[in-house]
Amino acid sequence: MQAEDWLARWRENRIGFHEGGVNPYLRRYINEFKLKPGDRIFMPLCGKAHDIAWLAGQGYEVIGIELSDIAIESFFAEFNLQYQQFRSDRFVMRKSDNIILLQGDYFDLQSDDLEACKLVYDRAALIAIVESSRNRYCSHMQSITPDDCDMLLVTLDYDQTQMSGPPFSVCGEEVFSHYQSGYQIQVVEENDVLDEQPRWRTQGLTTLQETVFQLKRGKGL
Ligand SMILES: C[S@@+](CC[C@H](N)C(=O)[O-])C[C@H]1O[C@@H](n2cnc3c(N)ncnc32)[C@H](O)[C@@H]1O
Repeated sequence: MQAEDWLARWRENRIGFHEGGVNPYLRRYINEFKLKPGDRIFMPLCGKAHDIAWLAGQGYEVIGIELSDIAIESFFAEFNLQYQQFRSDRFVMRKSDNIILLQGDYFDLQSDDLEACKLVYDRAALIAIVESSRNRYCSHMQSITPDDCDMLLVTLDYDQTQMSGPPFSVCGEEVFSHYQSGYQIQVVEENDVLDEQPRWRTQGLTTLQETVFQLKRGKGL
């Protein structure tokens, strides 16, 4: 997937990945990270997820990065939020109270942009990245986030020969191989979710597993 492919998806409203509500794993596991009101949460490849507004409503500051202006402007419009817009050499920043959405390329982020972030919430971001770029995505994540920044990560795992993706299949071993040098990783939930995706069953998928990982950093590593 090139940037243009994602932009075309947004233009053509082919956004089957978008959830119409708050992600249940986010609700279930956010308190495990012992965040304080005002703490910053980074959402890579954030789309127009309802989770952005929900986290902001819980009192956190949310910073997201997203390629598509349509996604970002739709988010603010759908939640009826006014925003201010600023341009830098790398991003267009739109800010509304405790929500900052950067329009641009995740790979252009620098550590200064994510200062003081306490949590990465990665839902449908790692699995949106093609296999050949995932190593770079994960290394970049560790280089731009602070040393004490934990992560809540949700992945999908299926037989990649049965469907081309995105979403791409990312198995648990792969998650460990990318992140075990920097984090203590715990699988907190695994679910067979094929029944929730009848379209993919029709396309030939025979299994589809969703896995939730908690990645903790800077605690005795
Ligand atoms: C599968 S969607 C997931 C969106 C969101 N995380 C959610 O849960 O709804 C992946 C998103 O990443 C965006 N994207 C893809 N590559 C990107 C990049 N290099 N930098 C920033 N955003 C990117 C796409 O435009 C798309 O909105």
